[in-house]
Amino acid sequence: MFRSLLRQQTTVQTGFRGMATAAAQTQRIKKFQVYRWNPDTPEIEPKMKTYEVDLNHCGPMVLDAILKIKNEQDPTLTFRRSCREGICGSCAMNIGGTNTLACLCRIDTDTSKDLKIYPLPHMFVVRDLVPDLTHFYKQYKSIQPYLQRDTLPADGRENLQSIEDRAKLDGLYECILCACCSTSCPSYWWNQQQYLGPAVLMQAYRWLIDSRDEASKIRKEMLQNSMSLYRCHTIMNCARTCPKGLNPGKAIAEIKKQLAFD
Ligand code: SF4
Ligand code: SF4
Ligand code: FES
Repeated sequence: MFRSLLRQQTTVQTGFRGMATAAAQTQRIKKFQVYRWNPDTPEIEPKMKTYEVDLNHCGPMVLDAILKIKNEQDPTLTFRRSCREGICGSCAMNIGGTNTLACLCRIDTDTSKDLKIYPLPHMFVVRDLVPDLTHFYKQYKSIQPYLQRDTLPADGRENLQSIEDRAKLDGLYECILCACCSTSCPSYWWNQQQYLGPAVLMQAYRWLIDSRDEASKIRKEMLQNSMSLYRCHTIMNCARTCPKGLNPGKAIAEIKKQLAFD
């Protein structure tokens, strides 16, 4: 009898504790202020829309939160995403004032602070969080980002590379072309039509130093003008913002060195 009462009491206590935990959990409401603009209603100005998400029922990353908003609250919210693991580069946006990948960005769990999310800055907007990257990709295409050779490989089959030469590509080939760096660069903001910007220039360098490539002369000629490369003023926003930890500013400095000693 006594034991059964005790068990009952424990159950009640556990029940209360469970309710208290549930009550505490329901209080983890985080507000997300998200940039909204719809090209179908151009007469309506862009605005920030606030969504509330219970962090107890949401994954840890910002991409989890905006997917949850889209799935459960507002299917019209538009953004790009694909891999959700920092590989495709499509979920790049400005989160809490920093250009980064939504899938690699942890939600600040301090619920007293709202989190503001904008599209990548200084780009035309297609809709909501989707920037127009047409010009960015055109610039990438302009550097001819592929291997160019006139001579055939020695064995007639493969263009071999020493381990040392291959190592020179580390820190460059990992770029996922998310454009976080270029859209954080003040020089790119103001000279976007002519200045190639950090992301594209880092890839220009990647091909310039590839020991298998034989087009370095023409690659350098393409950069030898006052705008394509020399608008970089070593402000280094690019290296600070890269979500993959790369350093485009350093690659740009290396290109300048190569051109100077040519
Ligand atoms: S280092 Fe050059 S490319 Fe990078 S942010 Fe500064 S100006 Fe732009
Ligand atoms: S260098 Fe970094 S920030 Fe720039 S495009 Fe590549 S991955 Fe993105
Ligand atoms: S979804 Fe692919 S990088 Fe974020």
